[in-house]
Amino acid sequence: MVSIPEFEANLINKAKSNKQRIVLPEGDSDRVLKAADQALKQEVADIIILGDPTVIAQKASELGLDLTRATVVDYLNATEFEEYANTLADLRKAKGLTLEEAREMMKDGAYYGTMMVYKGVADGMVSGAEHTTANTIRPALQFIKTKPGATMVSGAFLMCYNNQLQVFADCAVTPNPTSEQLSEIAVTTAETARLFGLDPKVAFLSYGTGESGKGLSVDLVKEAVRLTREKNVDFAFEGPIQFDAAVDPEVAKTKLPNSPVAGHANVFVFPELNTGNCCYKAIQRALGDNCLAVGPILQGLNKPVNDLSRGATVKDIINTIAFTAVFAQKKG
Ligand code: ACO
Repeated sequence: MVSIPEFEANLINKAKSNKQRIVLPEGDSDRVLKAADQALKQEVADIIILGDPTVIAQKASELGLDLTRATVVDYLNATEFEEYANTLADLRKAKGLTLEEAREMMKDGAYYGTMMVYKGVADGMVSGAEHTTANTIRPALQFIKTKPGATMVSGAFLMCYNNQLQVFADCAVTPNPTSEQLSEIAVTTAETARLFGLDPKVAFLSYGTGESGKGLSVDLVKEAVRLTREKNVDFAFEGPIQFDAAVDPEVAKTKLPNSPVAGHANVFVFPELNTGNCCYKAIQRALGDNCLAVGPILQGLNKPVNDLSRGATVKDIINTIAFTAVFAQKKG
């Protein structure tokens, strides 16, 4: 049992317990600057902001913020700019990227911030308050790449509602996952769940439970379950299973009486991105203040880079800084 305030306090305390350096490339966003101010006040992380220091100082003063403890990097005029462009050109040489093109790309804060993470100058990046998911995460997909053992990146949401914590994935990245990818999403999401204190019980969601559903999309899920079984994973899983059978013990008794997961699932693997994205937003919006959706947490990357929804509130941004820091702590 965990309430929304308890969950948020735990998240912030976890981040504070081992402070990380988080870069925020969108120094021109009021919301980002407000979140930076709060994150510094609450000691959630050490904050690096990209942008023109004069403009940022002026905005801070207009908004009544104290950003004196943030490191502001005038990245377009930074001495490292050329080195970063060179590194990008080098890393993307096989893709035919020229130095000239790399310089142009480096003018985009998401590329510069991601390069800071790649170089170890920052421990994680949070961006996307003013940019699309694709723009924000593409640099990370291109050169942070997946961590050892992973072949893909997926996006999870920590969903806190009805005094419980659940993890939903993939809600953000891969439009049409294969069975292999669904199985990998289950493995990485179970790891994420553990990081936030859950004993993962994974439901591979579908429109059928057990043998009840027929069709190609159910077969895709069945195959994902079979592949997961072959991996001898160290968490409980079930599928295909419908959401009601996954969360309601009474429905579970009727539909899958012998399953250790049915009725008690806390990790939900959606069959494809449309469903995952629509479901997390539907629950979030239907429950309003009674639901906290934290994410998307980009799972499977070598180093933490996280995307904000363009509708992100200041509080959402602080939470994203916090979980990015929690992921960054794992490196040591
Ligand atoms: N995992 C790991 N690497 C990936 C993945 C993935 N899931 N997808 C793409 N890549 C890599 C590719 O291998 C490629 O690497 P390479 O250039 O070194 O060969 C690189 O990323 C670029 O791949 P493209 O195929 O060119 O993909 P593109 O950049 O066009 O798109 C993206 C990738 C942005 C993730 C795309 O799949 C996408 O737009 N997904 C949906 C994002 C979205 O809109 N989500 C919903 C909103 S989020 C929200 O509501 C909170």
